[in-house]
Amino acid sequence: MIYMSEVSKVYSNGSVALADITVDIQKGEFVFIVGPSGAGKSTFIKLILREELPTSGRLVVNGRNVVEMLSKDVPYLRRGLGIVFQDYRLLPNKTVYDNVAFAMQVVEAPHREMQKRVHNVLDLVGLRHKVRTYPSELSGGEQQRVAIARAIVNNPVIVIADEPTGNLDPDTSWEIMKVFDTVNKAGTTIIMATHDKTVVDALRKRVIAIENGRIVRDQVKGVYGYED
Ligand SMILES: Nc1ncnc2c1ncn2[C@@H]1O[C@H](COP(=O)(O)OP(=O)(O)OP(=O)(O)O)[C@@H](O)[C@H]1O
Ligand SMILES: [Mg+2]
Repeated sequence: MIYMSEVSKVYSNGSVALADITVDIQKGEFVFIVGPSGAGKSTFIKLILREELPTSGRLVVNGRNVVEMLSKDVPYLRRGLGIVFQDYRLLPNKTVYDNVAFAMQVVEAPHREMQKRVHNVLDLVGLRHKVRTYPSELSGGEQQRVAIARAIVNNPVIVIADEPTGNLDPDTSWEIMKVFDTVNKAGTTIIMATHDKTVVDALRKRVIAIENGRIVRDQVKGVYGYED
């Protein structure tokens, strides 16, 4: 699903964000990416999304060679990926329904079918009753659930999240994690960068720890491993 081989990333200012990363993530895995601030977690995610290109190494995402990929093919890569950010990034002037519907790429799908799909994902995140609401009228946890609905509406094979619970209180973080767990149990690969020790220690998923741009730990039923 995701294959990185000897991947390094040096930003144009000379900052070495990742060095010699080799990792293999299979379909259906749930992987936490942990490590201190500045370790390279977000960079790792940006390479998978092809927001940044590796400086060297091989990277294959969902069967596509990301390094050799032409710009015109990037949308095809992204179509298979769902993305969730710490700050939700919803469109403020659109309702919950429209925020999710807007992300649907099957423009040729009949309207009724699209409506059904949007309602289904909003059901899954427990927000069917909020379809007509605007983001500003929602709590942080609700906004993040809309963002997850938007990320999964196209049935992506991989959902990638960069600190999705970073702005949320512990109870709300758990609600969000339950949604990710449900999505994962339906077969979707999840890759999540997080500083949430409680969640990582409780769920015992695969944990990849990055420090100074290098993988220092890769555990099957891992723990957070830092005191913060
Ligand atoms: N666009 C950029 N240009 C130059 N250097 C960058 C850029 N983005 C990140 N870096 C540097 O690369 C390193 C890794 O950054 P990255 O954002 O991947 O860390 P992180 O593990 O996500 O940290 P955090 O936990 O604080 O989010 C840091 O030293 C950072 O300063
Ligand atoms: Mg980061």
